[in-house]
Amino acid sequence: MNLKSVPKVELHLHLEGAAPPSFIRGLAQEKSISLDGVFTEDGGYRFEDFTQFLRVYEAACTVLKSPEDFYRLTKAVLENSREQGVVYTEAFLSPDFCGGGDLAAWRDYADAIEDAAGSEPEIEMRGVITCIRHFGPEQAKTAAVCAVETMGDFITGFGMGGDESVGHQGDYAYSFDMAREAGLGLTTHAGEWGGAESVREALDDLSVSRIGHGVQSIDDPALVERLAEDEIHLEVCPGSNVALGVYPSWDAHPIERLRKAGVLLSVSTDDPPFFHTDLSSEYDRLNAVFDWDIDRFFQVNKMAMDAAFCDKKTRDKIIKILETAND
Ligand code: ADE
Ligand code: ZN
Repeated sequence: MNLKSVPKVELHLHLEGAAPPSFIRGLAQEKSISLDGVFTEDGGYRFEDFTQFLRVYEAACTVLKSPEDFYRLTKAVLENSREQGVVYTEAFLSPDFCGGGDLAAWRDYADAIEDAAGSEPEIEMRGVITCIRHFGPEQAKTAAVCAVETMGDFITGFGMGGDESVGHQGDYAYSFDMAREAGLGLTTHAGEWGGAESVREALDDLSVSRIGHGVQSIDDPALVERLAEDEIHLEVCPGSNVALGVYPSWDAHPIERLRKAGVLLSVSTDDPPFFHTDLSSEYDRLNAVFDWDIDRFFQVNKMAMDAAFCDKKTRDKIIKILETAND
């Protein structure tokens, strides 16, 4: 089955995490920045566990120093997405890596990213501003201010990534409240490493409509029921979970059990070059391991679009593309 040509919706993609290693290496050379320990001999990103992953990720980000760098990065990432058949993507954008959370600087970065997105008419892109959990609640407020001050047609959501073992979801409630009151869509990484309890905290304390990962909810049947009943959407990234060791194998991954329990979900790549994956490869695996067929992928992409942080006109347009391809 050729799944590459299936039109796809991706809701969980970190812009810097989607940077091909060759792109980062090229920028490092241009700027004479040394990136010791970031790459393996065969040119991929080097890490053995989640802590190292975050460290290497942040080291790679040190070469991204200007709006122009982010313009080029966005173009490169969208080109890869287009090759995978992606028609709508939400990218996680971190003001912390774009001027250190300074609003005036962020405006220039946001403009550059939006310009690059506008030059790729085959893909609709929206930006979800993410604060970084291990940078702490005070720093998160600067990301929330950046989100609220630049929200509009392009910046449509606010979320949180980073190390889930640091503090609690509720420590970031001030920032999420600010974003909610401004009308932004909300998502947070939960239940990737922090167990089902972290997902409960995200729902109770941050009132998000979507959860990044959320897969460890499977250990708590009452929570699974609540997710299904409240129509909370999980942005599931199975290849990321297997590569980072959240689950030992694809067979052990709970995506199909969550789906069968009635939980709304979709499929994303998180940080594809870090995990040696792309969206078509994820689809191939889902087909091979869980027997997902074209109809299943249509359903999942439709669920993604229903949960997308975009206006009705864009939602209708993308759903039409999905339906036409599925006729
Ligand atoms: N930032 C980039 N990828 C991430 C992940 N998988 N979990 C938390 N923060 C991240
Ligand atoms: Zn993520």
